Amino acid sequence: MSASSKAAAITAPGIARHKGKPSLVCLTAYTTPVAELVDAHCDIVLVGDSVGMVMHGLSSTLGVTLDMMIMHGKAVRRGVKRALMVVDMPFGTYEESPEQAFRNATRLMAETGCAAVKLEGGEEMAETIRFLCARGIPVMGHIGLTPQAVNSLGGYRVQGRGEGAEIVRRDAAAVAEAGAFSIVLEKVPDGLGRLITEEIPVPTIGIGASAACDGQVLVTDDMLGMFTAFRPKFVKRYAELGQAADAAIAAFAREVREGRFPAAEHVFADEIPTAPRGAAV
Ligand code: KIV
Repeated sequence: MSASSKAAAITAPGIARHKGKPSLVCLTAYTTPVAELVDAHCDIVLVGDSVGMVMHGLSSTLGVTLDMMIMHGKAVRRGVKRALMVVDMPFGTYEESPEQAFRNATRLMAETGCAAVKLEGGEEMAETIRFLCARGIPVMGHIGLTPQAVNSLGGYRVQGRGEGAEIVRRDAAAVAEAGAFSIVLEKVPDGLGRLITEEIPVPTIGIGASAACDGQVLVTDDMLGMFTAFRPKFVKRYAELGQAADAAIAAFAREVREGRFPAAEHVFADEIPTAPRGAAV
């Protein structure tokens, strides 16, 4: 979809119909200013639960709460005009039952104004996805590496290698059949990403998956190079904002300590009467 046209807002059914067409573009946002930047160029803006690690310093996404997602979702809503806004359901807010998922998904939609939710899981979540979709909640699936399952998976390794490929294929088929309008495919081998994209009728959005996916997603802070130490293979850095920010902060600190900031152009002209206090003016 062309982001430059003044087209109407993108919908979940619109994304579903985009299967096999030019690549869909998706980035994360957690704040209004970043949402505005991303909305201008993307089809989907994802308020990912990666917010916990990126913005709150958590070591995984497990500590992210519904209230955190609602707060960031509201901020992003103010910046998104055209793209489809999707909000992640955090760990523990949907796995228990379809009813629990419905209760929390409706809160996310009603309180943030998002147009869809994303949840992690394959075959085991199909019943829940079907329940939500039948009740007016568009669902984006997320299979392959599902970071909320880091403890069961034993880390953030590539999924679907060898015999594991069959599991991911079955997950993709079940989630698509349950009604998801698209599926994030995270950290699977290139060939498997291609195969699943050919096999399922809704768009796949890859992250560390395959160029053959129907779209691509990255965490915006990663592709902007905000973190110097975090350099996963699947992230291409399109800028080095972390380095630029470090240099700018260092320059500010130096100039303050050397008495060079603020300079004359940064202070306000002196318009206070110069007569001593108490003297007749
Ligand atoms: O939480 C997130 O940002 C995500 C994307 C990486 C797909 O789920």
